[in-house]
Amino acid sequence: MEKKIIKNIEEMRDFADFYVKNLKKEQNRAEIIILTGDLGSGKTTFTQAVANFFKIKDYITSPTFVIQKQYKIEDNNLGFENLIHIDAYRLESGEELLNLNWRENIQDNRNIIFIEWPERVKEVLPKKVKKISFKFIDENKREIIYD
Ligand SMILES: Nc1ncnc2c1ncn2[C@@H]1O[C@H](COP(=O)(O)OP(=O)(O)OP(=O)(O)O)[C@@H](O)[C@H]1O
Ligand SMILES: [Mg+2]
Repeated sequence: MEKKIIKNIEEMRDFADFYVKNLKKEQNRAEIIILTGDLGSGKTTFTQAVANFFKIKDYITSPTFVIQKQYKIEDNNLGFENLIHIDAYRLESGEELLNLNWRENIQDNRNIIFIEWPERVKEVLPKKVKKISFKFIDENKREIIYD
């Protein structure tokens, strides 16, 4: 586990680039990264930075009203073709993800999936997922812990 203090948004963007470039990609299933931390701790900001890294242009900042957003990823040497951003905040249980193609999506190694509020859907999460936790320190500072 690594721990980092991020001093501002710029550093959060740098961290997102670093994180994606250094991912040890799963070979036989989707890459699932759960994002934990309080409201406003930076989960969406991080995901947006990942979307920028992949040159996704139509990224929607707040998918809170949309549970799941899927974006096509063009040209990258990591082998990903889709970025899927899930915000489970409004879900009552993981079962609700099953209607959103969850089972198929997690088996497809072309997918990189980020999930905010994974606690809400823990029954359907595979045992082995990557995790990043975000903690608010002050207005601009965040602590992140990742494996
Ligand atoms: N270093 C930083 N990293 C990330 N966000 C920062 C940082 N400094 C300030 N912010 C601000 O903090 C807010 C983080 O909001 P964000 O929507 O990313 O949080 P969240 O964890 O997704 O919250 P929610 O659980 O409500 O979805 C943004 O307004 C962002 O501009
Ligand atoms: Mg968010």
